[in-house]
Amino acid sequence: MKVTVVGAGAVGASCAEYIAIKNFASEVVILDIKEGFAEGKAMDLMQCASLNGFDTKITGVTNDYSKTADSDICVITSGIPRKPGMTREELIGINAGIVKNVSTSLLEHSPNMILIVVSNPMDTMTYLAHKATGMPKNRIIGMGGALDSARFKYRLAEALGAPISDVDGMVVGGHSDTGMVPLTSHATRNSIKVSEFLSEERLEQVAADTKVGGATLTKLLGTSAWYAPGAAVSGMVQAIACDTKKIFPCSTFLEGEYGLNDICIGVPVVLGKNGIEEIVDIPLSDAEKAHMQASAEGVTKTNGLLDL
Ligand code: 2OP
Repeated sequence: MKVTVVGAGAVGASCAEYIAIKNFASEVVILDIKEGFAEGKAMDLMQCASLNGFDTKITGVTNDYSKTADSDICVITSGIPRKPGMTREELIGINAGIVKNVSTSLLEHSPNMILIVVSNPMDTMTYLAHKATGMPKNRIIGMGGALDSARFKYRLAEALGAPISDVDGMVVGGHSDTGMVPLTSHATRNSIKVSEFLSEERLEQVAADTKVGGATLTKLLGTSAWYAPGAAVSGMVQAIACDTKKIFPCSTFLEGEYGLNDICIGVPVVLGKNGIEEIVDIPLSDAEKAHMQASAEGVTKTNGLLDL
């Protein structure tokens, strides 16, 4: 199992590290355009192998896509992260060109790859990858909901005073500060609906804190977060590599599902060896349906900024 991670920045390197530690991939290639940067990150990570007990071979390469050849899964993290006060959508001017070039360069060397897009604005970058590569829609996946759901569970556990291992919840919709849809009606504490424990007002606060989870960290860190994004995408890579059939909220190309067309946006999907193996249709409350529709309108508006 060969995995390529494009972008040796904080998110890409964290993703590579988590993949290596999970030890399901034989090889991880990290590619960056900055001379020596990916090589350095790869070497530093390989010097953790004996300490963290993994056999995964991590190699770094500077802008040489031939070294990514025949990758089973490729992850695009390259592009600029946001600064405090910025929206993800403001990154489109620079990141669209990067994602278009990277996705086509990867495809040239790995025609059968499954592509995971992390770069922001992620839903629009995932849509761009579709248009740029023409790959089958099951093999292009956007990572946002897995991260947002992890932040949702963090906030739910905080509100419940419960261990996160007892909490389950999912965020669908666009990966944007205003477009996320935390499914509070579905969230549970060990199979019990969280509404049995939390007031509607408290749940609304949990949802609000979840939506700005990224912006909250960008304000604290001065740049975008990297540990949870890296962990979220490594979990998706593992589900595909190990054909686990786990359900994740992922940005995927919709053709009528959830009443939406010609858009990539976060919905529950089954991930396995073929990438997106099934789009799961779940019942949404009227409020959740309205939020989903509004979220889709926002993503479509951002898509309109692309020069396709
Ligand atoms: C985040 O929400 C980088 O979009 C990513 O942290």
